[in-house]
Amino acid sequence: MKKLIVANWKMNPETIAEARSLLSRSLTVISKNKSIDFLAAVPTPYLGDAAFKKRAKYLAGQNVSWAENGALTGEFSAKMLYSLGVKYAIVGHSERREYFFENEEIIAKKIQKCFEAGIRPILCVGESTAIRRKGLDLVKIYLKDQLRQIIAGTEHSLISKIVFVYEPVWAVGAEEADDPESSAELINHMKSTLKEFFGLPKPKVLYGGSVDGSNIREIFAQKPIDGVLAGRASIDPGEFAKLVKNAKI
Ligand code: PGA
Repeated sequence: MKKLIVANWKMNPETIAEARSLLSRSLTVISKNKSIDFLAAVPTPYLGDAAFKKRAKYLAGQNVSWAENGALTGEFSAKMLYSLGVKYAIVGHSERREYFFENEEIIAKKIQKCFEAGIRPILCVGESTAIRRKGLDLVKIYLKDQLRQIIAGTEHSLISKIVFVYEPVWAVGAEEADDPESSAELINHMKSTLKEFFGLPKPKVLYGGSVDGSNIREIFAQKPIDGVLAGRASIDPGEFAKLVKNAKI
């Protein structure tokens, strides 16, 4: 199975001209590695641009609203993304949890809205430093709880469409990624939880947090890791080229 690289541009780059150039450079680099699939989660204002719309199959939103429509200034719905040809959206990213106070209940509603609109959620879960310090066994309990709280109300046939991301909060924007063996162990645990509670035979689970051109080889050497969510490395064309080159499996 091909591994998936999701580029999370966050609130970058600063202009549409730079964004068009980053997208086309990224796609050129990606076209040279046939062993990976690619999605770019780009800032919402760029999604409607013609250069982006024609490459919609490679695009993801970075968020969606928990509501369908209405008086919610600044928000946008899953349906709006879908109408631009976008088929994926990140939900539950740790920055949304931290700065926009999103909790499991809100994230569960967002997932629901994604499915109603035909969007596949890219769902991020992961523990804080405080939990990680207590050891992997506790992290496993935490991840199991997070998953169950978020997707308990989702129809089982839809859960298989979720792309899961194990993204430890402490590894996002950090100096170092998690060690790939621990991530693989935790991802295996997430897969068993998804199988046990939701009957999902083969969920896709990515790793996220300080992925770059130097550690991707080691990360992809771990079989349970089905891909990565990369932030900083995806907006630096040189680093991204290195990441994709070293992502050959
Ligand atoms: P990072 O961000 O790769 O810069 O750590 C990852 C993410 O937040 O998705």
